[in-house]
Amino acid sequence: MRVYTSKTELNAFINTEKSSDSSIGFVPTMGALHHGHLSLVEAAMVENELVVVSIFVNPTQFNNPEDLNKYPRTLAQDVLLLETLSKTKIVVYAPTVEAIYGAQTSVESFDFGGLESQMEGQFRPGHFDGVGTIVKRLFEIVKPDIAYFGEKDFQQLQIVKKMVEITQLPVHIKGCPIQREANGLAMSSRNSQLSVLELETAALIYKTLQSVKQQFLNDAPEEISEWVRTQFHNHELLKLEYFQISDIETMAPIRQKNQTKKYRAFIAVFARDVRLIDNIALN
Ligand code: PAF
Repeated sequence: MRVYTSKTELNAFINTEKSSDSSIGFVPTMGALHHGHLSLVEAAMVENELVVVSIFVNPTQFNNPEDLNKYPRTLAQDVLLLETLSKTKIVVYAPTVEAIYGAQTSVESFDFGGLESQMEGQFRPGHFDGVGTIVKRLFEIVKPDIAYFGEKDFQQLQIVKKMVEITQLPVHIKGCPIQREANGLAMSSRNSQLSVLELETAALIYKTLQSVKQQFLNDAPEEISEWVRTQFHNHELLKLEYFQISDIETMAPIRQKNQTKKYRAFIAVFARDVRLIDNIALN
């Protein structure tokens, strides 16, 4: 498999491969790949002649330096995993921090129309400017036709769509379904930091969301939120950071149900110091 660290070499290769009617699919990742990532790559392989997977732990989207330091970096393993899908149709782009940001790591400031101030944006200040900065830069380098993002990070997916609208970059954004472990826990690179007991216990997150979906048929959002808080209150291993039912267009919390709107429930939970997020479509 071709693994490029230089954007010039990556571009030279893409230019030799790309004909006028072929398309480039792009899966941006921070590595520590799992089957959730592979499902994105598989979706990209169905729709594109060539798939670029970027592996880059982006420092500007971490508001907690400890979280950045302990983020798993497993490039050799990631390449082997991708090779199980294809050695020729997939290309890896794994730049260094200096190659992307130069000597001084600077972040662009975006106005995402309020999407950035809810949930992840509220609890991780600056996170979405970091995401917007890196995704924009990667789109400019890779120049994909279609880019694929997992719905586990649904707020990020909406932010990236907004960034593309603002910048008018010619790329189509596709959201792909959340992949889950057998016990329902959403697949995440962070799961590798959990003990066996924590992995088992974290199944409560998705069980709670499934129950929320049922309750949403009849109950008021505030009642449901209160019920979720009681599920995690004084829990031995899990600590609820937030739970919110949001309109998927604005990400703002729901006040009253409206038949014409689409809603999702979003949750962030700590298992020790490992932060896990998940969400579910409610209607
Ligand atoms: O979802 C991720 O892994 C990251 O936020 C992304 C989109 C690769 C940007 O660094």
